[in-house]
Amino acid sequence: MANRGLTVLVVGSGGREHALAWALSRSPSVARILVAPGNAGTAAIAENLPLPATDIPGLVAAARELAVDLTVVGPEEPLARGLVDAMDRAGLLAFGPTAAAARIEASKAWAKEVMQAAGVPTAQARIVTTYEDALRVLEHARFPVVIKASGLAAGKGAVIVQDRAEAESVLRWMLVERGLGAAADQILIEEYLVGREASFLVLTDGTTVVPLQPARDYKRLGDGDTGPNTGGMGAYAPVPEVTPALQERILGEIVVPTLAEMRRRGIVYRGVLYVGLMLTPDGPKVLEFNCRFGDPETQVILPLLDGDLAALLEAAARGKLHEVTRPRWRPAVAVTVVVASEGYPGTYRTGIRIEGLDGLPDDILVFHAGTRREDSRIVTAGGRVLAITAVAPTFVVARQRAYAAVERIRFPGMIYRRDIALAEVATPTAPSTGSA
Ligand code: AMP
Ligand code: GLY
Repeated sequence: MANRGLTVLVVGSGGREHALAWALSRSPSVARILVAPGNAGTAAIAENLPLPATDIPGLVAAARELAVDLTVVGPEEPLARGLVDAMDRAGLLAFGPTAAAARIEASKAWAKEVMQAAGVPTAQARIVTTYEDALRVLEHARFPVVIKASGLAAGKGAVIVQDRAEAESVLRWMLVERGLGAAADQILIEEYLVGREASFLVLTDGTTVVPLQPARDYKRLGDGDTGPNTGGMGAYAPVPEVTPALQERILGEIVVPTLAEMRRRGIVYRGVLYVGLMLTPDGPKVLEFNCRFGDPETQVILPLLDGDLAALLEAAARGKLHEVTRPRWRPAVAVTVVVASEGYPGTYRTGIRIEGLDGLPDDILVFHAGTRREDSRIVTAGGRVLAITAVAPTFVVARQRAYAAVERIRFPGMIYRRDIALAEVATPTAPSTGSA
């Protein structure tokens, strides 16, 4: 542990960043936490800096002036734009992949190529750049297929299509009308995988890998997985079906070969590698990689961590992850329910006063996502507004506590899913917490 505590800068403004700041505030090695730009929740436990997450020169200057020891980057965009590279050049330590390594998320075409070269199980895909080539690929397609923009598209880039007519209209939108701009310069036409999804996140310095508890998020807006895709309407961890044996398999078949293939290409991946999996009858297959912590997965993973998050992130950033002891996990489960604004993921109003935040039970974690302070009030400032997390010995109790808290929170137009972790309520006790 450092003699003088660390000053840590968290970059981002969502529920994930509030959860990171909260977990860092419990790290014995941390003395001061800054968040740029943060939200009303982070302001209560850290110091917000009025800098957008993509202001790379501004963030580097702030880190230097404020003698930041470690910068932890939340969202993908600053990573893909080279924030960690810029920090490196300035001699500042940052947790997260370089721009070259962040391509694993920023270019699905490149990620697919890396996986194919490494023999990693994933959906078969063809990569095309023109509408005419796409039509030729469709001639041999067995529907449904998944059409994906290669670039960053804020959750709008993957569409499952049931027949040729639907496929043509999505392809026209992406490749001819350019509805997603440069994100759809390359398109993947991908085999549709069947199974249950899981999010498996690891900390890595490029060689050593520390798995986190497996999580599951709920991407669709409505109960029973209906309605449009969102950033995530809730999550739980761990996922009992991702057993320690399955985790070993994911590490051996997916994580280790992917990192090795990147090293072979001269890229050392440091940060969190988020593996989005489909658990198919043929085994786990990669749906996507993300180059960062998941949101809202982070809001259920970090509350289960029994250890010093800052020490882990610092060691990963320094390439010395082998020197730290593996984290332990609380023998418990976590459920988070996202409270959103009516209209999300489309347009919604903001500036609406949120009531009921005071006086919630002490064991409830309220992570702010889109909020801001107006005088003495907390008001909505985004589509996803809050993530309410409960940690308990069983999913039954965690759900009860999380939903009891959600029901005490009120604002006009507040929406949330009622079925987060419902599929797990048959689980009688906390599942095994061993994670390799
Ligand atoms: P992605 O942007 O790649 O994470 O895709 C968003 C969502 O689309 C995933 O979470 C899945 O629910 C779904 N999806 C993506 N690729 C496939 C696939 N090959 N087969 C089935 N569903 C998929
Ligand atoms: N929860 C999905 C993501 O963070 O990409």
